[in-house]
Amino acid sequence: MAFGDFQNEIYFNGLRGVVPALPVSFTDLEERARAAMPPSVWSYVAGGAGDERTQRANVTAFDHWGLIPRMFVGAAQRELSIDLFGMTLPAPVFMAPIGVIGLCAQDGHGDLATARAAARTGIPMVASTLMVDPLEDVAAEFGDTPGFFQLYTPTDRDLAASLVERAERAGYKGIVVTLDTWVTGWRPRDLSTGNFPQLRGHCLANYFTDPVFRASLAQSPEQDPQSAILKWIQVFGNPLTWEDLPWLRSLTKLPLIVKGICHPDDVRRARDGGVDGIYCSNHGGRQANGGIPALDMLPDVVAAAEGLPVLFDSGIRSGADIIKALALGATAVGIGRPYAYGLNLGGTDGIVHVLRSLLAEADLIMAVDGYPTLKDLTPQSLRPVS
Ligand SMILES: Cc1cc2nc3c(=O)[nH]c(=O)nc-3n(C[C@H](O)[C@H](O)[C@H](O)COP(=O)(O)O)c2cc1C
Repeated sequence: MAFGDFQNEIYFNGLRGVVPALPVSFTDLEERARAAMPPSVWSYVAGGAGDERTQRANVTAFDHWGLIPRMFVGAAQRELSIDLFGMTLPAPVFMAPIGVIGLCAQDGHGDLATARAAARTGIPMVASTLMVDPLEDVAAEFGDTPGFFQLYTPTDRDLAASLVERAERAGYKGIVVTLDTWVTGWRPRDLSTGNFPQLRGHCLANYFTDPVFRASLAQSPEQDPQSAILKWIQVFGNPLTWEDLPWLRSLTKLPLIVKGICHPDDVRRARDGGVDGIYCSNHGGRQANGGIPALDMLPDVVAAAEGLPVLFDSGIRSGADIIKALALGATAVGIGRPYAYGLNLGGTDGIVHVLRSLLAEADLIMAVDGYPTLKDLTPQSLRPVS
């Protein structure tokens, strides 16, 4: 697939006086979304931990690297497909899990819209535990595109097992366990408005439809939503330790990927514990301020992974960013906030537009700079930018 052809489509439409309905640059997209989103949703999505220095650093870290152009390569065809956990994906890109993506859609069903975008593009969705619609309904929209389920491990082990079992039964192809969010980080934007969507009962469909969760309640969530929310607060966050890894591993035969790993020692230990993939991320700077850009930690993570697939996110805003993360060793790169903005502005079409724009830019950079395959993109292809 030639992702760069998207630009021909845009220019030919331009001949008929038709311009893209949504911006092709992240800055314009973000600006449009800021104006369009309800303030509480905007601050929840756009905001991060503390004064958001880590969040900004995630983005600016990409400015410190530049790709060296190579000529006489004739990179007329580029190959961006990858093999991940035995599946072939059209591009080394996926949609990172976003709890509340449901609320980002104007019809309030953004998980379904995201799954439909995955079906249309072949770009997998990593679906968050925190969904507006149950995980089964979301999986039903994936079409032929593999989907992944992101688990926030509850304190109740039976509930954790039930969620994983349901994900397996619904056809998810991997379980991503997020490790950095058993407690919510200090988020001044949300704190200043006292806004935490889940406490208002949002995005808890996977809990409220779960037989184990329901069995733990005196009355059903439909009869007594307040008590169900209180129960959710009690079970949501499990401060896992390495002692829990064998149990997590035992929950599924699907590929197990651990998200939030940034230290090479943690990579080695997770690898020894039998995980199938490492997901290097600092949660987009939403969880802890005062940190290091995720991109700066990627090379050490890749080295310690010793060939295990390394998924990466935090700060990807352009096709150029995708290329740099791949050159630094990521197997696949996660898009976060940009697709949430596309969803808000244009539903499924909006997400498809954002993904196609990112992939077109990445593909055209590989064409212009003479890197026809992903194998050609290595740390040696990059130089520090002063
Ligand atoms: C609004 C929002 C909600 C998120 N919810 C989740 C979640 O439910 N589970 C998870 O593992 N990560 C979650 N993340 C983190 C993303 O998966 C990803 O790590 C992050 O968005 C990457 O940073 P970026 O968007 O700045 O590129 C969320 C991010 C945002 C912006």
